[in-house]
Amino acid sequence: MKFISSHASLLCALTLLPLQLSADVAVPDKELKEARSLIKSFGGDLKAALKPAMKSGGPVNAIEVCNLQAGPIAETISSQSDWKVARTSLKVRNADNTPDNWELKTLLQFEQRKAAGEDIKKMDHAEVVTQEGQTLYRYMKAIPTADLCVKCHGSQLDNAVAAKLKEHYPYDQAVGYNVGDIRGAFTLTKIVE
Ligand code: HEC
Repeated sequence: MKFISSHASLLCALTLLPLQLSADVAVPDKELKEARSLIKSFGGDLKAALKPAMKSGGPVNAIEVCNLQAGPIAETISSQSDWKVARTSLKVRNADNTPDNWELKTLLQFEQRKAAGEDIKKMDHAEVVTQEGQTLYRYMKAIPTADLCVKCHGSQLDNAVAAKLKEHYPYDQAVGYNVGDIRGAFTLTKIVE
């Protein structure tokens, strides 16, 4: 009987705890698996669009492909699941990809983890977040800068590439990256029922 009453009061205390408690609750494994598999599809579809475009028309042509396809690919992947899928970065090319506060905090933590020696290929972070009265599963995975990427995100861009980027993205910040840097991150959000 004693157990029941203390248990009941514990439950009661839990429900009265401030909402920040949710930050200590783990995102369930099933959700993590789902998020990771969506990133595989998203990343795969992006590469599938980028690679042939780079091959056939070089980076100048591929800029148009990225510009026109990154958004729709993200929307298609999002519409096939309960997750909203996008990309973000500390230095964005497209202002639509600007990080919100939680994403900013996570991107800064990724930089700290990298500085502490962690391999960025597997770097990710999941959290249950309460925002504007809504509970969300949020997940981010770092995106490494590869050889292919520096043609459009590096420090020595071809003149034609630089000009084309300027035309589409006058406020582009996403340059100056070296291979092995964190270019940004995939960011996924799901509203908890
Ligand atoms: C042909 C040029 C080109 C190449 C190569 C390229 N990108 Fe991009 N990248 C772009 C363009 C254009 C955008 C803006 C897309 C948009 O409007 O949503 C972009 C946006 C991004 C973003 C979203 C954040 C932001 O800055 O707006 C990330 C992350 C990113 N690229 C990572 C990469 C990675 C990683 C590689 C290498 C695997 C790569 N890119 C290769 C042109 C390129």
